[in-house]
Amino acid sequence: MTDLLALETDLGAQIAAASDANGLEALRVAALGKSGSISGLLKSLGSMSPDERREAGPAINGLRDRVAAQLAARKAALDAAELDLRLAAERVDLSLPAPPRRKGSVHPTMQTMDEMVAIFAEMGFDVAEGPDIEDDFHNFTALNFPPKHPAREMHDTFFFNPGPDGERRLLRTHTSPVQVRAMQKTNTPPAAPWIAQGREPPIRIIVPGRTYRKDSDQTHTPMFHQVEGLVIDKGIHMGHLKWTLETFISRFFETGAVTTRFRPHHFPFTEPSAEMDVQCDRSGAEVKIGEGSDWLEILGCGMVHPNVLRSCGIDPDIYQGFAFGMGVDRLGTLKYGMPDLRDMFAGDTRWLAHYGFSAFAAPNPASGLS
Ligand code: DAH
Repeated sequence: MTDLLALETDLGAQIAAASDANGLEALRVAALGKSGSISGLLKSLGSMSPDERREAGPAINGLRDRVAAQLAARKAALDAAELDLRLAAERVDLSLPAPPRRKGSVHPTMQTMDEMVAIFAEMGFDVAEGPDIEDDFHNFTALNFPPKHPAREMHDTFFFNPGPDGERRLLRTHTSPVQVRAMQKTNTPPAAPWIAQGREPPIRIIVPGRTYRKDSDQTHTPMFHQVEGLVIDKGIHMGHLKWTLETFISRFFETGAVTTRFRPHHFPFTEPSAEMDVQCDRSGAEVKIGEGSDWLEILGCGMVHPNVLRSCGIDPDIYQGFAFGMGVDRLGTLKYGMPDLRDMFAGDTRWLAHYGFSAFAAPNPASGLS
């Protein structure tokens, strides 16, 4: 029995002296592990006589329980001390100045798009959207492109390999396919809730979105943004088109006096078709709208072709409409005086810091600051 007492005293001293978790674990293994000292004593009970065992059993089991409790208490104390150390080491000084934060800005393209949407929304237009990945029907066929039209060819359009259904999808070359989506009533719901659904006229929508063409120079980029417009109702004529576009241009360029000129043009989806120019002054570094003796092409437009209405299930003898499409990035560069369209897409943070808009103080017609 004195052996047990000596062992307990000795283990107790060692446990109290253990200074880290590894040392404590080594002590636990040496005492209570498979071949530990206390485990050895427990095993020896088997070879004792019943009388001896009656006395030694409770003594050895008691020793094991007390040593286990000491080990647990020491472990808790060591863990708490370690946590205290970590808390002291990892203390944060809240009085230190915060690291500088990079400030973002509203990209000029988004700013321009927001301004366009705000102006047309004020005139009663809804915003409609469609997918960037289109099929031949929406991008070309329903818009009255003849089968061999050059715009379908590879040099203009980014085509995908044919899908499992044999359909050759493409990146839309303009936002005009959303006209078709907004007019054509189908039994299949659109693939996503934000995609425009066909409805009965009257229709008055604008379609802001990304468009893609294989083109790159100072005034063309492979991805750019367009705003498309479509109005369908009874008795719509070119006078409505002209008033809508002139009102838009004078609001957009924030000038009362805009002189426009409609030049005959060709688009498969409109008849008659026109390009609209605005009077401008190009003599200085910046193009000035509303003065001077030059003309600047701004957008394409026209009366919706009867074939397009028919493709969408609308009777051209009852309904007429006009449509227009314009490049957002290009109008942004003109309004804000940027010399090269490609800068809009370069992601140069110095350029963005210079031309970007504050999210709060942007001169937006909707915010009343124009
Ligand atoms: N889709 C034409 C383009 O990308 C722009 C356009 C012209 C759209 C006339 C129209 C329109 O809706 O009527 O060049």
